[in-house]
Amino acid sequence: MTFTLEVLPADRWAEAVAGDLVARLRAEPGLRLCLPTGETPAPLYECLRRSDPDVWSRSTVILLDEYLGLPPDDPAVAGPRLRRELIEDVRPATYIDIDTVNADHAASARDLDVAAAAGIDLALLGLGVNGHIGLNEPGSTADAGTRVVTLHPRSREVATERYGAAHGPKRGITLGVARLLEAREIWLLVTGERKADVLRRTLEGPETAELPASFLRRHPNCRVLADEPAAALLRAA
Ligand code: PGA
Repeated sequence: MTFTLEVLPADRWAEAVAGDLVARLRAEPGLRLCLPTGETPAPLYECLRRSDPDVWSRSTVILLDEYLGLPPDDPAVAGPRLRRELIEDVRPATYIDIDTVNADHAASARDLDVAAAAGIDLALLGLGVNGHIGLNEPGSTADAGTRVVTLHPRSREVATERYGAAHGPKRGITLGVARLLEAREIWLLVTGERKADVLRRTLEGPETAELPASFLRRHPNCRVLADEPAAALLRAA
């Protein structure tokens, strides 16, 4: 196993991760980042919104995944959500989101893949309670490409319950596991007690397509940034 595990108190997690990210942007202003939406990064983005926009001025942000089949103004749509939560405040040089308007979804997935293939220096990922990373749902293999996917029932519920999507979206577009594993560095963000069991299985169970996040253990430079409640069931913690 090659990941590093860092466990932080819950009340300092967001600030600590934000501090690290800003330091990285200062050191590498042209950083190409892949960013998720969701509950986990929301407090992190809250901190980052207050960061000096100058450190972002040469950076590129690529959106990790997106729902399909929702009206463009649906609150669940990820592209505008990340724009509201972070992008419009920090204003990176480039923000690459995922086209949901083009009816040719495979073409939108290809465009996303081309953007990511140009290089991701740092990918921030959330961990789904079902073990997904991005929308690489259970069953996704380590060589899974960037593609249109069918959502796991749990992911559909999350979209509806949490974001009030009019209808649980059935499909989405995600960067593939293989493309994510090509990122120079990965930070897996995991907070809250409800992630404790899936984090334990991700780091200490068998590597399996049933838990796509477990493939991150193959990555040579993956930091697991957990808060104490999420890390509570880990042997190492
Ligand atoms: P969350 O989910 O950050 O919204 O809890 C992570 C994920 O499902 O990828």
